[in-house]
Parts: sequence; structure tokens; C-alpha cells
Amino acid sequence: MKVLLVGSGGREHALAWGLASSNKCEALYCAPGNGGISDYAEIVDIKAEDVDALTAFAVENKIDFVVGGPEAPLVLGLSDKLSAHGIPCFGPDEKAAQLEGSKGFMKDVISRYGIPTAAYGRFTDFESAKKFIEDTPSRVVVKTDGLAAGKGVIMCDGKEDAIEAARGMLEEASFGDAGAEIVIEEFLDGEELSYFALSDGKSILPLTSAQDHKRAFDGDEGPNTGGMGAYSPAHLMTPEIEEKIIKNIIEPTVTGMADDGMPYKGVLFAGIMVVDGEPKLLEYNIRFGDPECQPLMCRLQGDLLEILYAASTGNLNSIKDEVSWSDKTALCVVMAANGYPGSYMKRTLIKCLDYAVQVEGVNIFHAGTAKDQDGDFVNVGGRVLGITGIGDTVAEAQKRAYKAIDIISWPDGFCRRDIGWRAIKAENNK
Ligand code: AMP
Ligand code: GLY
Repeated sequence: MKVLLVGSGGREHALAWGLASSNKCEALYCAPGNGGISDYAEIVDIKAEDVDALTAFAVENKIDFVVGGPEAPLVLGLSDKLSAHGIPCFGPDEKAAQLEGSKGFMKDVISRYGIPTAAYGRFTDFESAKKFIEDTPSRVVVKTDGLAAGKGVIMCDGKEDAIEAARGMLEEASFGDAGAEIVIEEFLDGEELSYFALSDGKSILPLTSAQDHKRAFDGDEGPNTGGMGAYSPAHLMTPEIEEKIIKNIIEPTVTGMADDGMPYKGVLFAGIMVVDGEPKLLEYNIRFGDPECQPLMCRLQGDLLEILYAASTGNLNSIKDEVSWSDKTALCVVMAANGYPGSYMKRTLIKCLDYAVQVEGVNIFHAGTAKDQDGDFVNVGGRVLGITGIGDTVAEAQKRAYKAIDIISWPDGFCRRDIGWRAIKAENNK
């Protein structure tokens, strides 16, 4: 198969690594890719959001299969456009992609399917939003309806904060069009985990769990980011919780979406809050997580290309027995440019990656890197590298990742030093 992968993050580097290792992969292209992906794929200079140019490229180059990495092209209808040319795409069509593209849509459908989630209201008018906040007994979270680059969620301490957040979004367009409609929901107090499952529109294939670290600094301090590190499986996952997630959340979503005439194909990335042992759905993403995907790909045993193709062509049942997960833990630490998630310098030199990758049990995935004229790596984005260790315990995986990080020479970058801390604390208490 000739495969086109769309995206440029650490997630896409991990996917490229998996896809390229398949016997069925005759050629791999990646648009727009990054400095690390070029080891596995031919780089195509088309932006991930340019769905018309991606479709034209796929048609002209007789691409057999397209893998959508990030949400943006899927929300913009990449799957639909490819399908009009008979090219299967991993990732939902435009309608089903609203599960991530519109929080209000997501809350309405999952509530209709009886899925456990936080109580909520949808608003376009500030006075009604204010009244809802005043009438809600618990703390609330205020969210933009539309995509806001992961920033449109405001956790509010008191009613005043919440009212101001709602006013900003609705009356001052603080998030532009994304916040022209908002969702206000009850605050859920618990521990978060991410769960991944594939759907081919009819049947599902449960994958595995991970836990992300969204704050920039150690001890979960500092601003929210796209994710500073993740490990898999999540320490708080148990067979009971997994069964509840599958039976009460994933299955009713896939059945409900099919019954409603918008069958879901692709990966369902469920953001779960476990409250007193009960999993509740915070959000759906329509893609793999970044950096969650990096540890997932290090644990996956099976042919990634065959698996994603089966999910995209209604044949998930045919490959179910060929997918399994290593019992080991994989843990990814993100190295970011100093200043991220705020402003940061670009094109700073990163050295010694070839030595770092020689540490036993370590894979290095690139995100915002490019090669300069001398063939050295420089950063071109905020999140830059995902150093992923694998080990028998979370502590061992973490030790390997940090051993590799300590070899990398990049004065203009930083990372958290405590990725996996909750799990390691739990391991130590066993
Ligand atoms: P979302 O994009 O909706 O998942 O929100 C981003 C982050 O905000 C989540 O990963 C949670 O940490 C937090 N969050 C969102 N909704 C809630 C909620 N209802 N209660 C508590 N925390 C939440
Ligand atoms: N790491 C969180 C996300 O990919 O949404």
C-alpha cells in the first residue's frame, strides 16, 4: 500500500514508525512531517489543514490509504473528500468529527445515549449563562464550544471567576468564534486517565489506557499545555474500570452514532475522570493523544497499518486477534522550548540525539524539529521531542527516559522531571 500520513507532531512520528514497519507498507508519505519523520517517510510540503491539497496529492499519487493524525483536517472533512475519490481514510467524517469539534454537540449526543458525564448547559447568551452559574451548587468549568487549540477550558474557583470567563467568551470574544457558544459544566473531582478504542462504524476494538501531564511544570504547576509527558497503561486502570468504560461509554457511543446515521470510524480517545471508582466522560477526541500515542506505539504488538486500515474499511473484527499490548510500561517525557506554552525561540540547536537514543529501551520521537543546512536538528515548534522509555515498572521506564534526556544537549529546552509521579507513588506504596 502507498500510505499518506497527515500531521507533524510526536504523535505522527510514532505513527510513522509503526506504519513504516508494516510489510504491507510499500511507500509512506507524510504531510507536512518533521525532522524525525523524514527517516521513515517522504516529506510532502502540504499543511495538515489544507484538505483540498491533501486530497489532490492523494489522487495524483495513487495513495491507497490516508491516516489523519490531528483533529483539524478531520473536522474540515478530509475523510469525506477522500472518500469521494474512493480513498479510505483513518479518522471520522466531518459529521462524526463534531465529537471533538463541538463540545456542545458532544455533550448533547452522549447525554442522549445515557453516558455518565458532568451536568452541563449550552449558552450563546451571557445572562442565561450567568444564571446557570449562579444556580449550580458546585464549582463549574467554562468551555468554548469550538476548537481553541486546547486552551478553551477554564477551571473556575468561584462564581465570580466563572461569570467573568463566560462574559469574556460570549461578550468580549476572548476566544473568537470558538467561544461564540459555550458549555458550562459541573466540576468533577477525581483522577484523570485517557482511554483509547477503535471503531469501524459498527464494532469496536478496545485498545489501552494512558495518563497525560497537562501542566508545564513539576508537581502539576504552571500553565496548561498540550501535554508534557504521558505513560501507558494508566496506574489507576483496573479490569473493572476498563469494563465500565467499554460498556457504559465506548459501546453506547458507537451504537448511538450508528443509529443516528453518523457512524464513527477511527480512534475514540476518551478523556475520563474517575470519581469514586466510577468513570465519567469529560471529553472525546477523534485522534490519538499527543504525547499519549508515543507510549501506546511502544507497547503495541501487531501491524499498525493493518489495524488502522481494518478500522477504516469496516473490517475491525478480522484483525481483533492480532492486536495485543506489551505488559511493560512505556513513558514519554516531552522536551519543550524554554518559554513554551508562551513564546519561545526557534531554530535553536539540539545535539547528541544519536547518543541519547542508544540508551537501552529508549525511543526518541520528534515533534517540532527540522534539520538545518548542516544536517543538525533545530527546534521549529514548542513541543520538540518525546523521549520514551520502556521498562518493567513505571520507575524503570522513567529512569531510562531521563537517562537519555541527560545525554541530550539543548540549552534552550526544558522538561518536567516528574512524569509518571502518581504511578510511581502508587508503585512505592504497594
Ligand atoms: P477538556 O478539553 O474538556 O477535556 O478539558 C481539558 C481539561 O480540563 C481536562 O483534561 C480536565 O483536566 C479539565 N476538565 C474539563 N472538564 C472538567 C470537569 N467537568 N471537571 C473537572 N475538570 C475538568
Ligand atoms: N495530550 C492531550 C491531547 O492530545 O489532547
